[in-house]
Amino acid sequence: MDFKTQIATANALAAISTDALLVVLTGEKAPADLDPALTAALTAATKDGDFTFKAGQCLYAHRVAGVKAARVVFAHAGDGSLKAWRKAVFAGVGVLKAGGSKSLVVAGVGIAELGADHAEAVATAIEEATYIYRKTKPSAPPETKLVSVALVCTKAQQDTVAGGLVRGEAIAAGVTLARELGNSPGNVATPTALAEAAKALGKSHGLKVEVLERKDVEKLGMGSFLAVAQGSAEPPKFIIARWMGGAKGDAPVVLVGKGITFDSGGISIKPSAEMDEMKWDMGGAASVMGTLRAVAQLKAKVNLIGVIPACENMPDGKAIKPGDVVTSMSGQTIEILNTDAEGRLILCDALTYTERLKPAVVVDIATLTGACMIALGGHRSGLFSPDDALAAELLSAGEQALDLAWRMPMDEDYDEALKSNYADMANVGNRMGGAITAAMFLKRFAGKMRWAHLDIAGSAWKSGANKGSTGRPVPLLVHFVLSRAS
Ligand code: BES
Ligand code: MN
Ligand code: ZN
Repeated sequence: MDFKTQIATANALAAISTDALLVVLTGEKAPADLDPALTAALTAATKDGDFTFKAGQCLYAHRVAGVKAARVVFAHAGDGSLKAWRKAVFAGVGVLKAGGSKSLVVAGVGIAELGADHAEAVATAIEEATYIYRKTKPSAPPETKLVSVALVCTKAQQDTVAGGLVRGEAIAAGVTLARELGNSPGNVATPTALAEAAKALGKSHGLKVEVLERKDVEKLGMGSFLAVAQGSAEPPKFIIARWMGGAKGDAPVVLVGKGITFDSGGISIKPSAEMDEMKWDMGGAASVMGTLRAVAQLKAKVNLIGVIPACENMPDGKAIKPGDVVTSMSGQTIEILNTDAEGRLILCDALTYTERLKPAVVVDIATLTGACMIALGGHRSGLFSPDDALAAELLSAGEQALDLAWRMPMDEDYDEALKSNYADMANVGNRMGGAITAAMFLKRFAGKMRWAHLDIAGSAWKSGANKGSTGRPVPLLVHFVLSRAS
């Protein structure tokens, strides 16, 4: 998709040559400065009961008299907030995406001040609306014919809006990559395939990618990561991908992504219902790759390193058993009381590894606990950090990106649940506060690093009829990383 700006005013929209025109409105009636031909269509539709001035309303009109564009869609953006604007664009494009339009012009009328965030939202909403998974489904609907999108603005807004479009395009590409990796079935998106995808991304986007094999991580002493991997026939991969766009010697931002390409639970096997959804247990890894892609595409002046421990969690004669004790790379021992709490077992070694990268900050991203999904549902990701300033940065990045998180507590009292009689800690507490005890476990491996943890169990994918990856929290992470660029 190609995004650009177009200078025009509300009263001249009918004269724009394009296949489709999407008019995003607010308020209770057609704005006074709206083009007369469009106003006539809108007024008639309102009279006929086909459109009301309410949030979420959408009207399609074909070959409107006096309008150059063959297709017009009116979409109402409620209170005119950024969120409502994005929803309206999403709905409007939803109407047009399967049709014959190749070009689309989006115009906001009565929107207070069109800014970079609006432009970003246009790009990300269009990605979300037009993405189709096809990799293993030849019968999937054809790709949208839409190839070019122009956002109407004034001359004065042009630079800001163009900047927002560039950022939005990069975020959208990152989200698409994350969705594509996540949606790919477990037998396609294996740890090896993730490593290959990282290498391909390195080639196309100028990242330095290193993949550690089983023997390499054995040498590093990642006994906890290897313990999870030992029950699978798929070899584990430990991926390190670097975008060094910042000054030499600038401490990097490190993103650690959980890359369990399938989580059966292991010997503590999961129930069969919906177990297929555990192919998404590499959502953290996918979001790290998507973020790297976006940040590299924007050539951001920042040093960003993605660290991805990738393996399967499977039951097998060689698999870890409840009660087994393993030694992590940090030297701390762990009693594995539940083999289904495997995410923390691979992340703890990845965090210890990250210490040698001397990060400015490290954020891990993981589909870590069902408990977090129960606590927050799918709307907000769970944010955990003992560092108030870092937590505030991440929350605000989420707000800017319309990719929200919610901070959860990390009082030391929660750590008591991890006591073990046979090792330095157990890998699970009881069911109470399960998302928090998981975070407390990780905290034991964060050492002196400035660290935060995002539990994306609820936000990384959707179940039900619209089952699929969301690509979250790529938008949040890109905003966070960009805010740390010089
Ligand atoms: N990958 C799961 C968490 C998960 C479950 C994410 C459902 C999204 C939906 C994780 O590895 C896991 O199994 N966690 C256990 C932890 C428990 C054994 C302490 C859980 O949440 O049940
Ligand atoms: Mn699990
Ligand atoms: Zn898992």
